[in-house]
Formats: sequence, C-alpha cells, structure tokens
Amino acid sequence: MAEDKPLSVVTCTAPVNIAVIKYWGKRDEELILPINSSLSVTLHQDQLKTTTTAAISRDFTEDRLWLNGKENDIGQPRLQSCLREIRRLARKRHSGNGNSGDSSSRSALSLAYKVHIASENNFPTAAGLASSAAGFACLVYALAKLYGVEGELSEVARQGSGSACRSMFGGFVQWVMGQSADGKDSIAQQVAPETHWPELRVLILVVSAEKKHVASTAGMQTSVKTSLLLKHRAEALVPERMSQMTQHIQQRDFEAFGELTMKDSNQFHATCLDTFPPIFYLNDISKQVVALVHRYNAHCGKNKVAYTFDAGPNAVLFMLDDTVDEFVEVVKRSFPPENNGGQFLKGLPVGSATPSEELLSAVVRDPTPGAIQYMLLTKPGPGPALVEDASCHLLGADGLPQSSS
Ligand code: DP6
Repeated sequence: MAEDKPLSVVTCTAPVNIAVIKYWGKRDEELILPINSSLSVTLHQDQLKTTTTAAISRDFTEDRLWLNGKENDIGQPRLQSCLREIRRLARKRHSGNGNSGDSSSRSALSLAYKVHIASENNFPTAAGLASSAAGFACLVYALAKLYGVEGELSEVARQGSGSACRSMFGGFVQWVMGQSADGKDSIAQQVAPETHWPELRVLILVVSAEKKHVASTAGMQTSVKTSLLLKHRAEALVPERMSQMTQHIQQRDFEAFGELTMKDSNQFHATCLDTFPPIFYLNDISKQVVALVHRYNAHCGKNKVAYTFDAGPNAVLFMLDDTVDEFVEVVKRSFPPENNGGQFLKGLPVGSATPSEELLSAVVRDPTPGAIQYMLLTKPGPGPALVEDASCHLLGADGLPQSSS
C-alpha cells in the first residue's frame, strides 16, 4: 500500500464460472455455508469478465460504490461482509508486522480511510450470466490487493455470494463445503488449471428471456425448507458425484464429464420442481436445447455436447473444439437468428461447416426463429488478475468514475 500518496488505487479483473456439480442450498445464510460441495469451470476473461477499481484516500468522506457507471448502495450486507473481512485481515496482518513502526501506523491510518469502488462487466447484465460471482470475486481480489492482504481469499468471496468463491481460481475449481460452524474450511480449491484441457470449449446460448425469474438466494431458501429431494441429493448423491467429476476432468474423459454435467443440471432443476411452491428456471427454449443436444448425441453415438443450466433459461454447452463448427451450424438451423443486425455469434472465432443432410434431418426439428438472442463461444480460463496498466482504472485521480468525473 502506498499510504503516502493522496490516492492508492488498484484495478483487477475476475472471471465468471459455470457449475457442473451445482451448489443449491445453505446451512448458514449469514456466512454462506452450503449444504453440499460443488465444482465449476472458470470461463475465459477474454470473453466474460468483471473489472473493479478500488481506491483509498484520506480525502474520501464516505465509502462509495459504482456498478456499471451508476452509484449503488454500499450498505448491502454482503458487500459489507466482504469489506469488513478484508479490513479485519489487513488489520491482523499489519499488527502481526509489529505495531510500533512508522509504516504500520501509516497502515493503520489508511485502514481508517474510506474506500471508493467502481465495477464493470464486459457483458450485459441482462444476458442473465452469473455476474455476481465475478463481481464479488473481483471486489475481494481488488480490496485484498489494495490493503496488501494475502492468503485464503475464497472464504471472503464466499461471503459475498456462494458461487463467487469458485471464481477466485482459474480452470476447474471445487468448493469444499466444509464442516466447521465458522466456515473456515468452506473454501475453493483448484482441481486442475485452465491449461489442463486445451480442447474444451464452452458455448453459451443466450435465450431471449421474457420475464424475471426467482433469484437464486431466495429460491434455494425455499428449496432447503421444502424439498426432500434436495436433502437426499446433498447428503447421499453429491459426495460421490464430486469425486466422479474430479476423476473425469483429470482423465479428460469428455463422454463421462458431459454425461455427469447434464445429469447434475437435470437433478438441480428436479429439486427446483420438488420445491414447494415449485420453481421453474428452464423455459420452452431451454427444453428445446436439451432435446436438440440429446438428438445430436444420439446421432453421433456418443456424448459430444453437454448442457448445463443455472437459475435461468440460458444454456451453457460444453464440447471439444472439433465439434464446435458443426454444432454451431446445427444451432443456427434450429434457432435461425433474428437479431436485427446484432452479432449472432460472439467470442472465439468459429469456422464454417456444412453438416450432412442426414445429420440435419435427424437433429433439426421445427426451427424456432429468434429464440436464441446470441451465442458466445469461450473456453476455460485463468483466475482473477491485477491490471498493471494505469489507463484501465475505472476511477480517476479525483476518486470518481472516469466517465462521470
Ligand atoms: C444455480 O451463488 O448466486 O448458479 O450464495 O445466495 O449468492 P448466493 O447464490 P449464488 O447461487 C448459484 C446457484 C447456481 C449453481 C452454482 O453456481 O453452483
């Protein structure tokens, strides 16, 4: 920390993640402790990322927060938990360094300074992609850099949003549920780095969503209260699935990885239906995507594509790079673009393919124009990073958002 400067500022970026063994349900709402472990793939920040700038200055009179350019309430309890935890760790670290010296008294002083935070996504929030995971991971990472805190940060990110703890690492990441009541052992760990499976691709189908769905925090509360299926899943099924999934990833066994991914997504949505009153996240288009993937796999005689859905209708599809061109064409034929000039295919480049008539007649049924808004191709990617380039700061020298200052 450069406490002498009028303004200390850092900018960081963090990724989105998509769970292949789903987290759904808490045993502690305050600390965000889950009822089962989960496992996810971190998506590449070249396509989807949050950028956060955090600054402290003796001139700031209050903590302030801007999200995508608009001032937001910094008083939200989860944000406060993260801020409090990082400041506590910073205090601990500085007092551990011996609290008599000049530099530590300056550190203690800067801990009393107010913080300004600005955060932006490079993807539309309306796309319904899990932005809170990347958002809280980025916030915690940036604050840690600002206050010079190192060590176990996934435990702090978890207190912002459960799934955020998994965005603290790149590649393939498990969130170990832990046992202790204080949450110290409920942390994320990397299972394999992003370089482990270079052929793996992730194709996100952004479904044209009509209405807002039940937020995950509220949805999972009702599920924990009412679904015996969720209880059974968490206690009896997920432990085994966690070790199976880890093994499939380690062995880069796409068929098995894909199958378990689809089954776990289906089981999560089954627990939503078993919730009372029931929760529906999949819409008719999601179901059409499910059916399309199964027809395609049946035609190929093996699992070449796998779907997973979170608390919304968008499909996230896994496949290997040699399947992408053909499957993208299959999606285009099934959901002809109707996006009024917008780009239909975003992200990594896709080559052209001419699927055989035999394949098309076997898998494409009743094309639904306009049902998919756009597709985004990405791949596994690294965890949060510090941005060295000062021109990327979202806050100006006056500590206000660059655009509005
Ligand atoms: C369906 O992490 O958004 O995406 O902990 O209440 O913030 P809170 O919930 P959140 O839930 C994510 C649920 C999920 C599955 C998953 O990511 O594992």
